[in-house]
Amino acid sequence: MRKKLIAANWKMYKTPDQTREFFREFLPLVSAHNRDEVVVCPPDIDLAAAVEATKSSNTAIGGQNVHWKPEGAFTGEISAAMLLALGVTHVIVGHSERRQYFCETDDTVNQRLKAALEAGLTPICCVGEVLEEREAGLTDDVLRRQCVRAFHAVSAKKAAKLVVAYEPVWAIGTGKTATPELAAEAHAVIRREAAEIFGEDFAANLRILYGGSVKPENASALMAQEEIDGALVGGASLDAKSFAAIVKY
Ligand code: PGA
Repeated sequence: MRKKLIAANWKMYKTPDQTREFFREFLPLVSAHNRDEVVVCPPDIDLAAAVEATKSSNTAIGGQNVHWKPEGAFTGEISAAMLLALGVTHVIVGHSERRQYFCETDDTVNQRLKAALEAGLTPICCVGEVLEEREAGLTDDVLRRQCVRAFHAVSAKKAAKLVVAYEPVWAIGTGKTATPELAAEAHAVIRREAAEIFGEDFAANLRILYGGSVKPENASALMAQEEIDGALVGGASLDAKSFAAIVKY
């Protein structure tokens, strides 16, 4: 049995004060909830406040990106060691907004993923096709390519903590959700590719999250799919009640 992981991706929203306010409201709503793992990934500026606010709770904190070097002249970046020093345990890698707007490539995703794994962080590695690729029937090829390149030179042993998020780009922030069946099909493609790369046992235990307009209204249908091992939630994670409802789907 794979334990589900429900993750919030706050993107570029909320100040430290708003972060504290969120957890004041959110934590009591989910305090009795131990079924799944819960992670919130706020902007870097809020990480310290988030770690402090969630101490001795069942919610973990993640970053939204990580650089592959331990330190250096890389303006605007953050290292795995810096995240760890704050008490951060998870990190999103290769989100489609990074790929679309900040020149993130399959190669840099691979480097970031390796750095996160090496440091002992739990990476949530995002893959997903854009609308034109889906319409051209290229979804499976795109997912396979993104996986092969992201996992390049990563051993199954090193990858033990790896989590993958399938996020069809056309479903992110658009209100369009992949149907549970369509998401499950894509997850199966990713799992098969993971089996090729890391072996059957690894693939059977690999958690693959779905992301793209997950809301309280569609969470339970998505989570009911055996292939779907959790969710990566953007917009609907910004409101404490709404994210708590998703956590408790
Ligand atoms: P969304 O974002 O839930 O707002 O569609 C998901 C994501 O980008 O991770």
